[in-house]
Parts: sequence; structure tokens; C-alpha cells
Amino acid sequence: MRPEEQIREYRTYTETYLKTIYDRFRGEPQKLLFEAAEYSLLAGGKRLRPVLAFEFCRLCGRDWKLAAPLAAGVEMIHTYSLIHDDLPCMDNDDFRRGRPTNHKVFGEGMAVLAGDALLTDAFLMASSAEIPEPWSMSDAVSLLAECAGSLGMVGGQVLDIMSQERELTEQEVLAIQSRKTGKLIKAACCLGAMAGGATQAQFDAASQFANDLGLAFQIRDDMLDVIGTQEEMGKGVGTDQDKNTFVRLYGLEKCEELVITFTNRAISALTPFGDAELLKQLALDLTARRT
Ligand code: IPE
Ligand code: IPE
Ligand code: MG
Ligand code: MG
Ligand code: MG
Repeated sequence: MRPEEQIREYRTYTETYLKTIYDRFRGEPQKLLFEAAEYSLLAGGKRLRPVLAFEFCRLCGRDWKLAAPLAAGVEMIHTYSLIHDDLPCMDNDDFRRGRPTNHKVFGEGMAVLAGDALLTDAFLMASSAEIPEPWSMSDAVSLLAECAGSLGMVGGQVLDIMSQERELTEQEVLAIQSRKTGKLIKAACCLGAMAGGATQAQFDAASQFANDLGLAFQIRDDMLDVIGTQEEMGKGVGTDQDKNTFVRLYGLEKCEELVITFTNRAISALTPFGDAELLKQLALDLTARRT
């Protein structure tokens, strides 16, 4: 199958799979919570993290669908991070994934709770995966928690809001970006590899790829906040101008070079996988993304 077709199949499968997550809760009285969670979860988005999880599972030699509970878990945590990131007390954004932000529709209280639910339900989802040797469910769950929590995405968001009042060094910006964005990308790649029964060398390669891709991805995100449009991005633009980003440090031109540098570094980490054409193409396509 050609890479584009395979990516399309991963995305379609992700959409179908995510739609079923809250089915088992339908009879429960807290209907509004599920509506709020699904409002953001099923609003589209690029589904980059599930695509990465599926492809690493496939590259490690097992049926990629076995990674679905882990891929969905990461996408649920990613969606919660977006709902909370958009709140008035954080980035205060009105538009996300082509729709008004969660709190604009459901109110701040329900948006906080929808995020809480997605985060916690993600672990319920992930715990239904089958993890083959040499890995175990405890490896998978602790990796997911580490990438999402104080040492991962949340830690990065904390550094992000703590640093808004001052100029940062390159090292400090790297520390923020590799956590707030890089860690959930790492969770996707490494959990996919675990579901595929990765060797230690494959797992380490997935982790290295994710670190560099995560940096390239966030630098491009910061560029698109300046050069993108709301129609293409499905979210507000020009809203992060007071933030400490690489665009602020170095300007757009240098950022374009940095995106290429980190992407090439990511691609060079893929050697233990032999034919990693899909990941190479995906990484290169992301360097010029407009969405
Ligand atoms: C947006 O992530 C937030 C960042 C970490 C930069 P994505 O650009 O992957 O958002 P969706 O999932 O496509 O909406
Ligand atoms: C967010 O970074 C990373 C998250 C953990 C959600 P941004 O604040 O730049 O993401 P966008 O631009 O709102 O999607
Ligand atoms: Mg933010
Ligand atoms: Mg934001
Ligand atoms: Mg941004």
C-alpha cells in the first residue's frame, strides 16, 4: 500500500474507533459530560499521534490495529490538553478544530471536567490493550503517565505559563517545547512500538524520532501562528505572539531551517526500521504543513 493510502486508512480507522469510546457510557446520567468530551474528541484534527502509533506498531512487525487502544488513549489525552490549553486562564482561545472552543459551548466548568474525563478515561482505554513480550502493561501505563504528567506535557505547559513575562534562552524554549508537545508525540511513537513488540533498539529509535519530530512540529506550530490562517488551521492564529517561541527568538526564516534540521534528525533515527518510507514522508510533509 502506498504511504498516502496507508495514512488515510489509519485516519479513517481512528475516526471510527474514537466514535465508539463513549458508547458504553450512553445510559449514564452525566450525558452532558460525554457530549462535551465528544464535541472536542470527534471534531477532526490531523490525528497525527494515532497515525504514528499505528505505523510504529506495524514497523515492529505486528498487526497495527493492536495499537488502537493506546493510539486512542494518546489522542484522548492530547484532546484534553487542547481543551485546557484553550481555557481563559491558559491561552484564552475561541476556536479549535474548526469549532468554537469547548468552554465557549459548554462553559468553563464542563470544559475542565471534560478534560479531566478524557485524561482519566484514556487510561481505562489504554489498559484494554494487549502488550506483547518483552513489554508489559505496567511499562505502557507508566510511559503514558510519564509523558502526560508533571514530567511531560503538563510540566511543559507549566514552564510555558511561568515564562511568559520574560525572555528565554534557546535551551529554555527547547525544554518547554520538548515537554509540552514532544512528550505526547513520544507516547504515541513508543506505545505503538511497544504494541508491536519492539526490540530495545527499535524502542530507543522511536523515542529519538519522536523527540526531534516533536520539536520540528512545535516550531512549525509557532510559525503557523504567524503565517497561517484560521480557515486552514481550524484554530485562532496570532494568539501566541506574546509567548516565548522560536519565532520570537530567531524569526521565521531561521525557524524554517530549524524545522528542516530537526526533521532530518528525526528521519536519521529511523535506520533500525529499514523501510520507514511512510514516516519519512509524513515527517517531510509536516515541515511544510499549513494545518
Ligand atoms: C496542536 O496539536 C497543539 C500542539 C501540540 C502544537 P495538533 O496540531 O496535532 O492539533 P490537532 O490534533 O491536529 O487538532
Ligand atoms: C500547546 O501549545 C501544547 C499543548 C500541550 C496543548 P500551543 O498553545 O501553541 O498549542 P495551540 O497553538 O493552542 O494548538
Ligand atoms: Mg499553549
Ligand atoms: Mg494554545
Ligand atoms: Mg500554538
